[in-house]
Amino acid sequence: MARLNNTKRIKIEEQKPDLRVVKKVKTKPYSDIDLNSWKEYPHIKTDTWWEFASRDNTRGHSNEYHGNYIPQIAQQLYERFTKKGDVVLDMFLGSGTSAIEALNMGRRCIGVELKPEQVENVKKKFSEKELVTDVNLICANSASDTVKEKIQARLDIMREKQAQFLVLHPPYDDIIKFSDRKEDLSNCSSTQEFYELFAQVAKNGYDMLEKGRFAALIIGDKYANGEIVPLGSDCANKMREIGFKMKAVIVKNMEGNERAKGKTANLWRYRALNGGFYIFKHEYIYVFQKV
Ligand SMILES: C[S@@+](CC[C@H](N)C(=O)[O-])C[C@H]1O[C@@H](n2cnc3c(N)ncnc32)[C@H](O)[C@@H]1O
Repeated sequence: MARLNNTKRIKIEEQKPDLRVVKKVKTKPYSDIDLNSWKEYPHIKTDTWWEFASRDNTRGHSNEYHGNYIPQIAQQLYERFTKKGDVVLDMFLGSGTSAIEALNMGRRCIGVELKPEQVENVKKKFSEKELVTDVNLICANSASDTVKEKIQARLDIMREKQAQFLVLHPPYDDIIKFSDRKEDLSNCSSTQEFYELFAQVAKNGYDMLEKGRFAALIIGDKYANGEIVPLGSDCANKMREIGFKMKAVIVKNMEGNERAKGKTANLWRYRALNGGFYIFKHEYIYVFQKV
């Protein structure tokens, strides 16, 4: 092939179309994950078995509240089901894991918690500015009729009509007693009453959630009178009755937050062998969508 002289080469290059390709981003309306680069998210879980070796105690999190959930749950759910700037609504805020992680990930949060002293503790975890712009804490009974007005007022301040993600991490009936208050879901006179109050909270959450958006129920089962009480599936069914579409049932290991060690663990092993049951090593994360 004849060699091109410099003048000809410049002319040919001038005629070349600009081959730099602008890569298109493909996202869902509820997530910032770029589906055109889906291989670049190896840390995001897409199967139904979640195992975490230990709790993440960095970036504002600690294990100071008995009954809190591990932050990795929020990290996984927020990345899949929220966009930057979205408002997460947590109806059982506890020690504020959902709110802390929301800020860590550039989201915002409205949290409702029954115990005033707990709300005060959580407030200390945020700056005054953050408590105006990014985190709104409400001390109220999440099962009450009035809680929706309170949430709506905070949504107005945040210039949102509805929340974009719902977190429900209720007491697992009476397994951990959080207070003596009659409105406390851990203090019900029966499991039936627990289910009724849970359904009211879930309905309030449903009403405050934007259509098309997602909700997570984090819960475990319990044993009573020699049999399993399936709190997880019973509460999940309450959510389906309200109108949520069930999208996933995830099983998560409890190694990261189990407390029974040594002698206590041996005692449970004996009880299991003696009573014909198995020791819980898992809890559930149910994922729903409001359609
Ligand atoms: C399992 S804990 C949630 C822990 C939280 N996810 C965390 O990581 O810290 C349940 C919380 O629900 C609160 N609670 C119980 N009944 C409630 C109600 N009726 N309204 C609002 N909060 C309630 C309890 O005080 C407790 O802090």
